[in-house]
Amino acid sequence: MTFLSTLIALPPIPAISTVCAIYITSICIYRLYLHPLSRIPGPKLAALTLLYEAWYNLFAQDGRFIFHTENLHKKYGPIVRIAPNEVSISDPDFYNKVHYPGSQFEKDPVTYEAFGFGDSIFSTPTNELHAKRRAPIKDYFSRRSILAIEPVLLNTIKKFLGRIDAAIAMQPERLFDIQNGLRATSVDMSTTFSFNFPLGMLDMEDLGKRFSEDGQRRLKGFWVVKYFPWLPTVLSVLPKSVEKWMLPAIQSLKDLTMMSRGSFDSIKASGETGTSIFHHLLSPENMKRDRLSDDDIIQNGVVCFAAGAETVSYTLIMTAFGIVSNPDVEETLYRELREAFPDPNELCLSKLEKLPYLVAVVKEGLRLAPGAFGYTPRVTPKGGIKYNEYTLPHESVISTSAFYLHYNPTIFTNPEKFDPERWLSPDSKNLEKYLVPFGRGQRMCVGMSLAFCELYLVLGSIFRRYQMNLHNTSWEDVKQGMDYFSGFPAKGSRDFTVKAQKRGD
Ligand code: HEM
Repeated sequence: MTFLSTLIALPPIPAISTVCAIYITSICIYRLYLHPLSRIPGPKLAALTLLYEAWYNLFAQDGRFIFHTENLHKKYGPIVRIAPNEVSISDPDFYNKVHYPGSQFEKDPVTYEAFGFGDSIFSTPTNELHAKRRAPIKDYFSRRSILAIEPVLLNTIKKFLGRIDAAIAMQPERLFDIQNGLRATSVDMSTTFSFNFPLGMLDMEDLGKRFSEDGQRRLKGFWVVKYFPWLPTVLSVLPKSVEKWMLPAIQSLKDLTMMSRGSFDSIKASGETGTSIFHHLLSPENMKRDRLSDDDIIQNGVVCFAAGAETVSYTLIMTAFGIVSNPDVEETLYRELREAFPDPNELCLSKLEKLPYLVAVVKEGLRLAPGAFGYTPRVTPKGGIKYNEYTLPHESVISTSAFYLHYNPTIFTNPEKFDPERWLSPDSKNLEKYLVPFGRGQRMCVGMSLAFCELYLVLGSIFRRYQMNLHNTSWEDVKQGMDYFSGFPAKGSRDFTVKAQKRGD
């Protein structure tokens, strides 16, 4: 009797179980011994299944895989196989071989589709299509646009300063929850340039704390969809309440898209001019050339909000913490700001961005809180690549992370120390190539100029006006403890709070 006829003779359940067992065993043998990446060192379980990564990002821990792989690199060396078809490379000089202008590496669809940002520039996998989609959006971040939006951002900042003044006037301790204040400012600025109105977090009693906490919980949905990409389709045929309960991230994304669509429709219908991304994309100049479809514009509105809110907010929090926890830095910065702006109401981008100490402070904040803290996976181009003695064939996924550069003690000595001086020393030029908070190459952050504008205006405004001391907050409370693509402090961290005092002049 042949194996096949024995199988056919079996009752259905044992037959199906046998077929499944054979299928799974063959996949395991293939992934462990025959797969093109099988020679790359790493845990066997990671080579077998993506669920290894899911364990550290989703089930056992929240967004901790990047920290786990740091340990794997200590054990296995600079290249580690972290999933059946994916390697992590922790080698500062290798980063720029993947991320550079004209790079043939493309974004890994498995990761980037999980965000649910459809055909936006952020998620487009192929570089050619991406270049077409990015061109009209890129112009929005021109110098002219940034200068046009500056007064609008300053208005939001004024509201934020009003909240600090009110908080310190109301209680003798003069305490202020700067963490939620900065996040609220960033979110309100971000909705203003994306959707043309502030979300209103600065008007909320708790500075949007509850809203932000819910948002972070929902971000976990990104990992859920990465590991179980079929789940949204399954949930879409079940009652809405089940979908909302199991994957609240989907509802959040729908709400955001609705907000984006509402704003887009009203700007389009009114034909008004203004400073938001939608005004720019609907301008007669833009409509004449290769224009994006309405749906693509709406989707890109969502992406610009999402990509601009948490990133700026966390960099602001980290930088403010670095300043407040180092009184010398705070004093040096204040002296520079006071000299440049004898009147604190006269702050402007064109002067702020030329202040060497402020520039160094912001660089240091971006080093400690890069926009994408975790992996930014890319697919190897045709012909594959070589890394040391290993060949990584076409369509392997290569993951690099700014974290492996910015926190590397051989490049940045004492990496957890907030030390703006490292950017002012004569050797600082050598460090620049390892500072990649916005990524590099054609897929780097399109909103970088706007991000700098926000960072300079907010930090300049705060530290020109107030002297602050830490209250009940430590580095453990602000440092990255979870990776949801952007970094977040670990669960249970205390909110960064300061005791603030208005400067006399
Ligand atoms: C501190 C602030 C920011 C940091 C550190 C940052 C960092 C980054 C990084 C690292 C990427 C590349 C991600 C990847 O390779 O997958 C990126 C992409 C992007 N960022 Fe930012 N970002 C910041 C602020 C902003 C702002 C204010 C906007 C406003 C619209 C923005 C919009 C985008 C968009 C649309 C992309 C996708 C670009 C593309 O693929 O062409 N970002 N950002």
